[in-house]
Amino acid sequence: MNIAVLGSGGREHALCYKLTKSKKIQNIFCIPGNAGTGRIVKNLDVDISNFQILYKEILKHNINIIIVGPEQPLVDGIVDFFNQKKILIFGPDKFAAQLEGSKYFTKLLCNQNNIPTAKFGVFNNITDAESFIDRNKMPIVVKADGLASGKGVYICETKTHALNAIKEILSGKFISSSTVLLEEFLSGEEMSYFIIADKNGYKFFGSAQDHKRVGEGDTGPNTGGMGAYSPSSIINNILEKKIRKKIIEPTLNGLKKMNHPYSGFLYAGLMITNNEPYLIEYNVRMGDPECQTIMTLLETDLVNIIEATIAGKITDLEISWKKEKSMCIVLCSKGYPNTYKKNIEIDKIDNLILDKKSLVFHAGTYEKNGKIYSNGGRVLNFVTLSNSLLEARKKGSSLIKKLNWNNGFFRKDIGWKSIINNK
Ligand code: AMP
Ligand code: GLY
Repeated sequence: MNIAVLGSGGREHALCYKLTKSKKIQNIFCIPGNAGTGRIVKNLDVDISNFQILYKEILKHNINIIIVGPEQPLVDGIVDFFNQKKILIFGPDKFAAQLEGSKYFTKLLCNQNNIPTAKFGVFNNITDAESFIDRNKMPIVVKADGLASGKGVYICETKTHALNAIKEILSGKFISSSTVLLEEFLSGEEMSYFIIADKNGYKFFGSAQDHKRVGEGDTGPNTGGMGAYSPSSIINNILEKKIRKKIIEPTLNGLKKMNHPYSGFLYAGLMITNNEPYLIEYNVRMGDPECQTIMTLLETDLVNIIEATIAGKITDLEISWKKEKSMCIVLCSKGYPNTYKKNIEIDKIDNLILDKKSLVFHAGTYEKNGKIYSNGGRVLNFVTLSNSLLEARKKGSSLIKKLNWNNGFFRKDIGWKSIINNK
């Protein structure tokens, strides 16, 4: 069997890594991939937003199954496209992908199915939005409706800040959004909860804590994710039951009623307030860097999981996990998430000595003449497994220090809340 993973980040490197452990596959491709995937599978330099060209490439390499890493192709309907071409593809269809593609769609689904989430209003003019602000407490959360690469959310402490954010969105800062959502601010602890679903059922697929802010102590602007650990330290059986009954199951049932049963990975971004889960957002894919921690804990063959899901039999499959904790620390280019330099050689990467419980996944890298260079904000992911988050963090940090890459920085406090509470 030949399989292709679409995307070029640390998430895709982790998926490819896990696929290489399967005995069922002949060839694995990563499209377009990065320097790290290029060393373990075959990279194909193809634009994944051009489905027709991608289709030709899929036929040329006799690819049997496509796994989609990032959200954009899913939101653009890649699953519907390849379903029509009778090529197996893993992920939700265009309709279900609105769970990530339109925050308004998700909010309506929540309202129709009594799913706990922040109270909200949706607006396309400033006057109505202002009157909503006057009727609600500060802080208030302003969001662009469509995909905005994690940059479309503003937590506003003042009315002036909120009005400026609304004006930015309504004036077209994010091409995908001419609509703005205003939301009540939820306080509590955030966590990421993952499932894998098909038209007949679903299975738990890991929990994690992400660290979205660039600065230590969760300060500064939002990023794609500076580090994560799995499993989440705030999850317990009672909370998990509530997440399933109040959030996941009504969502899957709601989509089924609309004749678009969900298929693929589903990532619920949750706020836990007084032991009650509230949905902040859905993502229709694995998280990045959460995926890197979850793939390294997964024991079951990923190909079996993907095949079972495509066949609508995921509930028949036993999915097993390592008992350890996994932590991912992201090494970024200095300046990220604002401007940063690219094309800087990472000269000592091949000197790193990794034991069985440490891995380096690549994100924004490419290889030229045997040398590895940076080409993104998030560059490398250091993943370590241990029974203790503190130990995992020490090991990851020490590897990054050994790499001694002058253009990089990383958060030294991944897992801090859990480590302080000694969970
Ligand atoms: P989103 O892109 O919707 O996940 O939002 C990005 C981040 O903004 C989340 O991870 C939260 O930290 C924060 N956020 C979003 N919505 C809310 C809310 N209603 N209350 C508090 N924080 C929020
Ligand atoms: N780690 C956040 C995300 O993947 O959206």
